[in-house]
Amino acid sequence: MCGIVAYIGPREAYPILIKGLKRLEYRGYDSAGVALLNGDLNIYKKKGKVSDLEEATKGKDTHSHLGMGHTRWATHGEPNDKNSHPHVSQSGDIAIIHNGIIENYGTLKEELINRGHEFKSDTDTEVLVHLIEDVQQNTGVALDEAVRLALQEVVGAYAIVIISKNDPTKMIGARKGSPMVVGIGEDGEYFIASDATPIIEYTKNVTYLNDGEIAFIKDGKLSVKTINNVEKTPYIETLEMNLEAIEKGGYEHFMLKEIHEQPRSIYDSLRGRFNPNTGSFAMRSLKEYEGKIKNLNRIIIVGCGTSWHAGLVGEYLFEDIARIPVEVEYASEFRYRNPVINEDDLVIAISQSGETADTLAAIELAKEKGATIFGLCNVVGSSIPRASHAGAYTHAGPEIGVASTKAFTAQVSILTLWAYGFAEIRGKATKEQLRNAFAEMETIPDKVKKALECEAQVIEIARTFSEVHNALYLGRGYGFPVALEGALKLKEISYIHAEGYPAAEMKHGPIALIDENMPVVVIATKGNIYEKVISNIQEVKARKGKIIAIVTEGDTKVRAMADYTIEIPETSEFLEPLVSTIPLQLLSYHVAVNRGCNVDQPRNLAKSVTVE
Ligand code: AGP
Ligand code: GLU
Repeated sequence: MCGIVAYIGPREAYPILIKGLKRLEYRGYDSAGVALLNGDLNIYKKKGKVSDLEEATKGKDTHSHLGMGHTRWATHGEPNDKNSHPHVSQSGDIAIIHNGIIENYGTLKEELINRGHEFKSDTDTEVLVHLIEDVQQNTGVALDEAVRLALQEVVGAYAIVIISKNDPTKMIGARKGSPMVVGIGEDGEYFIASDATPIIEYTKNVTYLNDGEIAFIKDGKLSVKTINNVEKTPYIETLEMNLEAIEKGGYEHFMLKEIHEQPRSIYDSLRGRFNPNTGSFAMRSLKEYEGKIKNLNRIIIVGCGTSWHAGLVGEYLFEDIARIPVEVEYASEFRYRNPVINEDDLVIAISQSGETADTLAAIELAKEKGATIFGLCNVVGSSIPRASHAGAYTHAGPEIGVASTKAFTAQVSILTLWAYGFAEIRGKATKEQLRNAFAEMETIPDKVKKALECEAQVIEIARTFSEVHNALYLGRGYGFPVALEGALKLKEISYIHAEGYPAAEMKHGPIALIDENMPVVVIATKGNIYEKVISNIQEVKARKGKIIAIVTEGDTKVRAMADYTIEIPETSEFLEPLVSTIPLQLLSYHVAVNRGCNVDQPRNLAKSVTVE
């Protein structure tokens, strides 16, 4: 949650911070603030968007070469000006920005109050900056050491940046459980941020801090040590991301851009990972873990939200293709219910951001119990891939819209590859089957492109349904997770209540909701259970529900029954979620736009959920 960005160096800090905060705003957008050191510590903070902060600083002194900015997703204390970050210590000399939760803030706060500290906000964060100053005053150590010692007392998750009026050439960053990257620019300049997006414009040289590490930047030099005082040599890597990838590129919203990027992002995720001529794979996870895959008993897939939906598609794929039993778990439930798991299990953790706290905790638990962990993530260098034994990155490029779109199809693409890879290792797929499957996978980017052509028609349908209060999404087989995903997309960005159901399950309850005002979106493409889905459509029609059907090109049967049909290219069932999900993404997008909702930053949500 929340975005942090900080700068020290010869350039003006303020414009870098504001631009950086705008890039990070997808992570949290309750309020925003900056601290700028220029002799004095100037702090400007405001409830609302980064643009509100910008407005509030007009005409104010923003000159500085050392500063930091924060865009908040409130956990402790309502979003208002006083709870916005940065927060300052008792003397007002030290400032902090923080991403995460200080779990033991209550006890720490009580102790500090007993020692005369006064607090100005309701946040957990403010406690930490008071604690740092308290340690400094009580022990007489330098700020570096005070930060380290204070962090030893903290329980919880954090990425923090600290600056102090008394140390105007120093910037300190630390992380545990929340992401942090340090950018190394020219002429001794440094950047710290929650992800690389605010940095790439200035430098591609970065180092990702590990959990429990503190970065000290002083007089143009970077040093890293752990909270336990062990010196570390930072590993500097070169970012491959480019600026275009994080800009809107002419689209009105990131979400729309990302929906349209899918032919490319699916292609990029699959590219170079299989050879359609030989039927062979080029995936390290398959090669290095061949023995494990051969003998594993069960796969457990963990994730949240859309990533969990991708996991459900994964369940169908692994069971169908590789004949391995699969369980799909909400990471948040899995971690707290003492699951039965052992060395013969493989856990696949799916996460776009690679930072979701519940998913991260789930894999830590599974690791403790001896399971092997594969991470399937989009953000390179994020925490989940680092905590996994092996895995694969989805090469979808940065996903900025809070509603996940291209990450989902990229995740499903890799799961399809893994299902076939596992099948081969376990003797369940022949080379010929692999060659055929690969040949079909290669057609997917074009089919997705074709599916995107339905947009004009979707815009019309969205007009009709923008004022509804409820919607049902139905699918069977591979269409069921797609229905769930379609419903989630509509809920989160248009605030219309929507439910996804297996089409046949409808008659066990939700059918009671159907009347002439209820739009029912049905995945009714040709396949094994086409006729059964048709019966389900009849059941809805008989109760006057309005049917919006996603059908296979050339379909006439469903067309005769449905109020609206959207055609998608014919696709083998195992690949169909990659195509059938496209019209549902577009539908939710256009409904939300019609309703005047903030598509890229829906209320109450944040892109990466780094708190429990
Ligand atoms: C998707 O549209 C959501 N915003 C959300 O459900 C998301 O998929 C979930 O929070 C998991 O995120 P992750 O993939 O980064 O772990
Ligand atoms: N827990 C802190 C707060 O509520 C930080 C939240 C965040 O990560 O934005 O202010």
